[in-house]
Amino acid sequence: MIRLDRFLANMGIGTRKEVKKLVSSGVVTVNNIPAKDCGMQIDENKDCVCVANEKIEYKPFVYIMMNKPAGVLSASEDAHGAVTAADIVFDEYGHYGVSPAGRLDKDSEGFLILTNDGDYIHKVISPNKKVDKVYFCLVEKEITLADIEAFKDGIILGDGTECLPAALERAPKEMYEDGENGVLVTIHEGKFHQVKRMFLSRNNKVLYLKRLKIGEVELDESLKAGEYREMTFEEKESIINE
Ligand code: URA
Repeated sequence: MIRLDRFLANMGIGTRKEVKKLVSSGVVTVNNIPAKDCGMQIDENKDCVCVANEKIEYKPFVYIMMNKPAGVLSASEDAHGAVTAADIVFDEYGHYGVSPAGRLDKDSEGFLILTNDGDYIHKVISPNKKVDKVYFCLVEKEITLADIEAFKDGIILGDGTECLPAALERAPKEMYEDGENGVLVTIHEGKFHQVKRMFLSRNNKVLYLKRLKIGEVELDESLKAGEYREMTFEEKESIINE
């Protein structure tokens, strides 16, 4: 059970103040009866709530795929006032209070999931769940077979932290320019600056990093940097290894 005004606000109909006005104006019905009290309790799973004859579907969670641009923090809040991924979706989804499922550095780009489903976030980021994340990187030096083997064995970072085995390969030629070194890295954990630090431990340096894939789901190529859309049910489900 949930208060009617909270239900309407959570579904993005307006602020609590705005929905109160809507209720007073008589356009909100609960099971076809005009609602009089915005504080009335409704059963969000059973009751039929309409605004101006349009049914409001109850959606407790939202799962957003964003192509995070460089320069934007993946954190949902930032003490220093920098723009965050949650800020970008705020107008449409602010009422959900979304957080990122895993981080991308400020200068990194690509696939970022934003959701208000804490269990889902845990499943995406927990190394035990083995959800692969695939990154395209431009690195300073060409990779060697020894680098590929070292990634496969599990890199030990500069501070002694051991990484799980990871896959490193040259990226298809069409993904980068002549003279650049494009690689693909697959990991299923997300330590702070992990990919950058993995390359540093091999005396190499990441110059550009973009996340392309989470689990089986690829970043929608039609999303330009800074654009986002809700994930389909199939996408959302297929990312998780149950
Ligand atoms: N690894 C990094 O070093 N940075 C990212 O943003 C993501 C993975």
